[in-house]
Amino acid sequence: RSQPIESNEIKAEAARRVKIGIYFATWWALNVVFNIYNKKVLNAFPYPWLTSTLSLACGSLMMLVSWASRMTEAPKTDLEFWKTLFPVAVAHTIGHVAATVSMSKVAVSFTHIIKSGEPAFSVLVSRFLLGETFPLAVYLSLLPIIGGCALAAVTELNFNMTGFMGAMISNLAFVFRNIFSKKGMKGKSVSGMNYYACLSMLSLFILTPFAIAVEGPQMWAEGWQAAISQIGPNFIWWVAAQSVFYHLYNQVSYMSLDEISPLTFSIGNTMKRISVIVSSIIIFRTPVQPVNALGAAIAILGTFLYSQAKQ
Ligand code: 3PG
Repeated sequence: RSQPIESNEIKAEAARRVKIGIYFATWWALNVVFNIYNKKVLNAFPYPWLTSTLSLACGSLMMLVSWASRMTEAPKTDLEFWKTLFPVAVAHTIGHVAATVSMSKVAVSFTHIIKSGEPAFSVLVSRFLLGETFPLAVYLSLLPIIGGCALAAVTELNFNMTGFMGAMISNLAFVFRNIFSKKGMKGKSVSGMNYYACLSMLSLFILTPFAIAVEGPQMWAEGWQAAISQIGPNFIWWVAAQSVFYHLYNQVSYMSLDEISPLTFSIGNTMKRISVIVSSIIIFRTPVQPVNALGAAIAILGTFLYSQAKQ
């Protein structure tokens, strides 16, 4: 009698794996498209504060339309929810704008190599700010992560300090975002999709005044004219693509976070970076020296060792 139950369990587990596989593949593919259009836009229109704001605005609008048309049920939220979301949104805003500023200054591949060092930031923040301790193997796995990123950075042909610091700040901010979101999503009835929708809206509210202060409408108008005369009217579709794909890849990543552990999530995120690094090097013909690629490979290997050690 236990046989049908067992085979049902096996089937359910297989279905769950297929579903997670589909989430991961979709997440990576959407992220690759986002990174390519984002860089194409930034090459012609170097205003990362505006492009970051547009990504959040586009996502917020898409979700408002989907709530209004009842394609998705709107979440039931209270003041407490928005208060808990606030620190998550501050961290998301800083991490997003810092990564975009970084990509406006350096190759997409370089930003993502430095961003593959995120686990090292996670361990250091947890150890020194939250007092959490880890097994020795976890600390040892940080050596190839930090060493690999450092090697990739010093051998990067187009090194730029703002680009480097932007990726580092993004790492730090996203560690805080993940710590705060874990607390915020726990025991809440809001789905991953709606949680990310609310996060986009609050981040948009936080980012808009800063984007106006740092860049502002006058720079945007002049830059826009220059981009249109260089690229042609199709430029607007590039901006639309980077904005729509930014929302979609984040939405899928939050939907998969509903189904998997934070650890599986971070492994998925590292594998995502490999696809972004490889595809952007091919598409943008980024020059890479062998020692530079070696640094990236060591850092990524370190991230895998880290995930094994954490298990
Ligand atoms: C952003 O613009 O927010 C970054 O590209 C995010 O990078 P990540 O989602 O790959 O960490």
